[in-house]
Amino acid sequence: MAKLEALKADITTLKVDAIVNAANQSLLGGGGVDGAIHRKAGKGLLRECETLGGCETGDAKITGGHDLPATHVIHAVGPRWGGGHKNEPELLASCYRRSLELAQEAGCTSIAFPAISCGIYHFPPEQAVQIAVRTVIETLPSAPAVEHVIFVCFQDEMLALYQAELDAQAPPSKPA
Ligand code: AR6
Repeated sequence: MAKLEALKADITTLKVDAIVNAANQSLLGGGGVDGAIHRKAGKGLLRECETLGGCETGDAKITGGHDLPATHVIHAVGPRWGGGHKNEPELLASCYRRSLELAQEAGCTSIAFPAISCGIYHFPPEQAVQIAVRTVIETLPSAPAVEHVIFVCFQDEMLALYQAELDAQAPPSKPA
């Protein structure tokens, strides 16, 4: 089983094989973590994103990391919270699945996710964290290249949610 952990950090500082961006359908940048990633990656990332033709909600596309310490950026488009009756949970789960599929195809061993949709898109954090952890655990068997998954958060409250969810869904194995 891959190592899963939660970490309070700025995702743009992490030297991993792939960081995931909480992007929008244009893939041409925005605020939040998207803005931070584009600022740090430099204009080369925007130029590469311009060739991708956008991305549907629930899907993801991969680019290089350009000036970031990470090798790749996986741009996932989460759903905007609209009350929960617009397929938001399934679309959010799909972001995590597609990101791991792309990571597997690119041979990534380490991947860091932000809390997709939990900022400007207003997805309820408790539900989003549950979906994130569950979907990653369910998808990892079909992404055997991935050995290390980091859930990155900015706030202590989010970190506590991830840690509680990881303890519930993926408790550390005890020595026999
Ligand atoms: N490192 C880690 N986490 C971060 C960082 C960072 N540098 N910056 C923010 N967060 P958001 P969304 C957290 O709003 O809700 C953009 O304009 C943040 O605290 O970045 O999916 C896009 O272009 C929150 O918990 O993404 C879209 O239009 C989480 O990352 C839209 O926002 C996600 O917050 C996407 O909204």
